[in-house]
Amino acid sequence: MRIIEVPVSAFPDQRPGTAGLRKKVKVFQQPHYLECFVQAIFDALPERGTGCVLVGGDGRYYNRTAIQTLIAMAAANGYQRVLVGRDGLLSTPAASHAIQAHGANGGFLLTASHNPAGPQGDFGIKYNLASGGQASESQTEAIFACSQKLTRYRIADIPNVNLDKVGIQSFDGFRVEVIDPVEDYARLMQSLFDFDRIRSLMRSGFSLRFDAMHAVTGPYARRILVEQLGAPEASLLNATPREDFAGGHPDPNLVHAKPLVDLMMGPNGPDFGGASDGDGDRNMILGRGIFVTPGDSLAVLAANLQLSPGYRDGLSGVARSMPTCRALDIVADQLKLPCYETPTGWRFFCNLLDAGRISLCGEESFGTSSNHVREKDGLWAILAWLDLLSARRLSVAEIMQDHWSRFGRHYYARHDYEELPADQAKTVMNTLRGQLGRLAGQDLSGFCVTAADDFNYHDPVDGSESSGQGLRIVFGDTARIILRLSGTGTAGATLRLYLERYESAADRLALDPASQLMPLAKIADEIAGISMHTGKQSPDVVT
Ligand code: G1P
Ligand code: ZN
Repeated sequence: MRIIEVPVSAFPDQRPGTAGLRKKVKVFQQPHYLECFVQAIFDALPERGTGCVLVGGDGRYYNRTAIQTLIAMAAANGYQRVLVGRDGLLSTPAASHAIQAHGANGGFLLTASHNPAGPQGDFGIKYNLASGGQASESQTEAIFACSQKLTRYRIADIPNVNLDKVGIQSFDGFRVEVIDPVEDYARLMQSLFDFDRIRSLMRSGFSLRFDAMHAVTGPYARRILVEQLGAPEASLLNATPREDFAGGHPDPNLVHAKPLVDLMMGPNGPDFGGASDGDGDRNMILGRGIFVTPGDSLAVLAANLQLSPGYRDGLSGVARSMPTCRALDIVADQLKLPCYETPTGWRFFCNLLDAGRISLCGEESFGTSSNHVREKDGLWAILAWLDLLSARRLSVAEIMQDHWSRFGRHYYARHDYEELPADQAKTVMNTLRGQLGRLAGQDLSGFCVTAADDFNYHDPVDGSESSGQGLRIVFGDTARIILRLSGTGTAGATLRLYLERYESAADRLALDPASQLMPLAKIADEIAGISMHTGKQSPDVVT
């Protein structure tokens, strides 16, 4: 095997964000761009070039090309073995599981999650460790540092690998093993949930729709929901992965999964609806006539997960990202479970999961998962709900009413202001930041501020500090306003405004969320000057 060293000059823009390096496909297509970032990862890894590494992606445009490059570079950097999903596919949670299950040193996950795909769309790459979890902030900083002093990369001169067939291909002792992307994952799901019980729910006339949004979860849903659990094939929507996600935006929320939402809200809606995103780590949960917010879904799972065989012994603890609503905290308090609040981004949960401090966690951004993998897991959440519905034999709406009457309800929404010029977004943040010190104790349109700060996280496992993780105005247990900048966008800056309001009186559990949150949105706009500085009178996306 001939190994070529290619001299290069470093690219200045390879600092990973919330979930790896995400850029326009066009950026990745620049000569040597992908190779430089991959080499920086290899250079930054302590185990550098031994054993086995896994590669897989969400199937978006450029996935197959990038996989061939990665395989040739892994060979040149000393790996003996590469595992790759058939057709280059592996959902993010399945990849996280496969890294662990096959004892790989780590894995490359090629995805830009829910961002649009195709030649004009986005591409992304992130590295997950042997635990299956994403590299930590200090590790991604080390990768960035390596990328900045890169002078060469190494690549082997080997022919393209055939990705279409499961099996082993060898090149001078270097082995590429194409694996079934679904099999191990499906087995894992079967070990966590009561498949017999869900099958009998399906046989009872229960109807469901799962929208794979033309992205990676189609084959997973077909195997598990249809072949193993007996749902009719017609339960699957958009279940064939497409390189451009059929021109869509595979983000399972009220805006981007509108056809499913409309179906569920219609007069003859199915009993249950679920959707997942581009790489399969996000989930949306719906019942007939009802949308379950991710924060509520997390809280309901915390209160019910022990009904599923994999969680029969109860949960060790729970966690949510800071902007996620505090419905989880109330359940944790009543069940006497430790409850942690982490910065946005799944990697912050991983230390807590590895240390056994938590077994369930989630984010407002449609991410939920447990200690079974080190990523959020869309299908897992959907199966957890199906298992819960099969155990309790109530409708989704009844489950929610029961939950709110026990724990109270958090009305919640996220307002996104997208593609802002960076300086405008900064001005908004600075406007609010400048007032944080004097907000506590003030009455803002009838809401009394109890605390206002820039969220700083102290990791209780490794002692690391992460500062500047979002500005928050807290009104006791009643409400919160949070403002932060997105770390995953690829065009301009995205400002996220998170609004949360709690009600526990029996006659205040079925109010309209938008009108409940309106006063908080007004307060945020007045204090931070969002419309004044951005010129936008309303957000681009509300989820
Ligand atoms: C967004 C979400 C965050 C999630 C991340 C990756 O990050 O808000 O919860 O972990 O995508 O899916 P953001 O763009 O807000 O930095
Ligand atoms: Zn995703």
